[in-house]
Amino acid sequence: MQSIEKYQEDFIKYLEEYTTFREPKNLYEPVTYILNLGGKRLRPVLTLMTADIFNENYKVALNAALSIEVFHNFSLVHDDIMDDAPLRRGKKTVHEKWDINTGILSGDAMLIMAYQLFENYEAHVFQALAKLFSKTALEVCEGQQYDVDFETRQDVSISEYLKMIEFKTAVLIGAAMKMGAIVAGASPEDQHHIYEFGKNLGIAFQLQDDYLDAFGDPKTFGKQVGGDIIENKKTYLYLKALEFSNKEDSAALERLFSSTPDDPTDKIEGVKSLFISSGSAVETKQAIQVYTDMAFRVLQSLNISNDKKELLEAFGNSLMNRTV
Ligand code: IPE
Ligand code: IPE
Ligand code: MG
Ligand code: MG
Ligand code: MG
Repeated sequence: MQSIEKYQEDFIKYLEEYTTFREPKNLYEPVTYILNLGGKRLRPVLTLMTADIFNENYKVALNAALSIEVFHNFSLVHDDIMDDAPLRRGKKTVHEKWDINTGILSGDAMLIMAYQLFENYEAHVFQALAKLFSKTALEVCEGQQYDVDFETRQDVSISEYLKMIEFKTAVLIGAAMKMGAIVAGASPEDQHHIYEFGKNLGIAFQLQDDYLDAFGDPKTFGKQVGGDIIENKKTYLYLKALEFSNKEDSAALERLFSSTPDDPTDKIEGVKSLFISSGSAVETKQAIQVYTDMAFRVLQSLNISNDKKELLEAFGNSLMNRTV
């Protein structure tokens, strides 16, 4: 096994070779821009690490890892249009730097490029990867649609919210790991368990993303803090705050979430203080722990050595404590 940094380093080298200059410039420049903007490289690292865990030379999984990262970045370009987000990884989003049409088409190209990378594998691996990819990509679209639908709904339940984040975020993290297992020729049982591990970790990951969107440090977070509040996103923070609040506070929260002020500063501060005073912020932190522990329990069913399980646990714990 290698260190996380080593997987990251090898991945970035591979990515840099991939993102060479191509024409037309207005199609490919945004692709290169977003892919080289940094980010945690969480998903490709998980793909490489999983291939390694199942005893394959992890470099064989580089194309699958790249596919997952290209798809992830495609989804961010379109997500930032849908969420009207100005900032990504501390820089302008693609549609702000160029325009919305550029974001749409460059995003479309990235989706195809992600799929094309499977051509580097022989037929039976190609088929397994493509099948998982298609299923996952459709689920991400479904999750994204729910996310948008929920903005204007007042009756979203916690279980609907959990389904939505499972689809928009968690299945891709599960798939990233399962692709590493597929490339490594792991057994169907192990493929299933590593997918479930990744999926539970992914739910914790999105809960943390929602938490940081409200409570992250604007200096380091890299995205607009309060963006979910501006867009009236029905996050776990919001739903639990409503559940825990008395009538008066609930009404105040709902009122804030039906306003669209030109200057959102007061709305963001008002909502955040209700997230804290209701106990929702603490509850969200606990939920992150619960889903991380659920992921760790899945590890027990995997046919891998204990030190490899510990490595996955350490990775899960580091995600929980992230600030970006
Ligand atoms: C952002 O993903 C989108 C979510 C699913 C929350 P990341 O937090 O992994 O973004 P980068 O790639 O590190 O920037
Ligand atoms: C992102 O959810 C999910 C996908 C991109 C598919 P968010 O909208 O919360 O992601 P960020 O916070 O913009 O990164
Ligand atoms: Mg977003
Ligand atoms: Mg979104
Ligand atoms: Mg978010």
